Amino acid sequence: MGNASAVVLAERGATVVLVDVNPSLEAFAAEVDGIAHVGSVADSAFCDGVIAATEETCGAVDILVNAAGTIVRADAVDTSDADWHRIFSVNVDGVFYMSRAAVSGMVARGRGSIVNFGSIWGVVGGPGHSAYAATKGAVHQLTKSMALEHARQGVRVNAVVPGEIRTPMLSSERARPPTEDELHALADRAVPMGRLGDPREVAEVVAFLASDASSYMTGSLVTVDAGYTAR
Ligand SMILES: NC(=O)c1ccc[n+]([C@@H]2O[C@H](COP(=O)([O-])OP(=O)(O)OC[C@H]3O[C@@H](n4cnc5c(N)ncnc54)[C@H](O)[C@@H]3O)[C@@H](O)[C@H]2O)c1
Repeated sequence: MGNASAVVLAERGATVVLVDVNPSLEAFAAEVDGIAHVGSVADSAFCDGVIAATEETCGAVDILVNAAGTIVRADAVDTSDADWHRIFSVNVDGVFYMSRAAVSGMVARGRGSIVNFGSIWGVVGGPGHSAYAATKGAVHQLTKSMALEHARQGVRVNAVVPGEIRTPMLSSERARPPTEDELHALADRAVPMGRLGDPREVAEVVAFLASDASSYMTGSLVTVDAGYTAR
């Protein structure tokens, strides 16, 4: 969904600077005429460096989209210390480090929009994914708190809250990727609209939150979940 967001933002005229721990980022960045920084958002010095380099090269960071994330598929009772710390280091520390690094320049210029990736499992419980759900609850609260801290400084902070979206994350941390039949069964069972979402359907909302079209929105958790949390 981070890549899909970059595509939509680039289509609307943004210069995109991409961060991912996976070196395949370089090839994707070339497709959107973007600048790639391969490294981990769990490393605060790396995050500070990306923002400083972007301000130097591009003049400013007007939009920050925090989409990097990982998952642990286990009940709390079966979650190791290592997995707990790993998922918090990416899903929570990463959002905090990137946002802290970007927000000072946004405040100084009096404009900026931060869009975080929350999750339906930060809204309702995520049995079998307790650590993941806890990280997304933390992201939702960081979103609302930073929104209030910067509400009078021209900086808006919102979160997109996706439901079941067809991305590589649906297959990650599993013994084997789900089959098409299993994905259809998941969508039928879990999603009121009865289908998985396409990353672009979330990216359009990210672009809206990033843009001045959402100028009266801050601290909002915007569900894009086909009705999942409406029940
Ligand atoms: N797929 C879903 O159904 C779903 C639902 C709700 C929320 N989300 C959230 O949406 C966001 C995007 O996920 P996605 O579904 O596109 O998954 P994805 O696995 O396709 O993308 C996540 C990306 O984060 C990168 N990443 C992982 N650890 C990193 C690190 N330490 N530093 C930098 N990059 C790192 C991965 O390499 C990957 O490219 C995540 O925050 C995820 O938690 C996903």
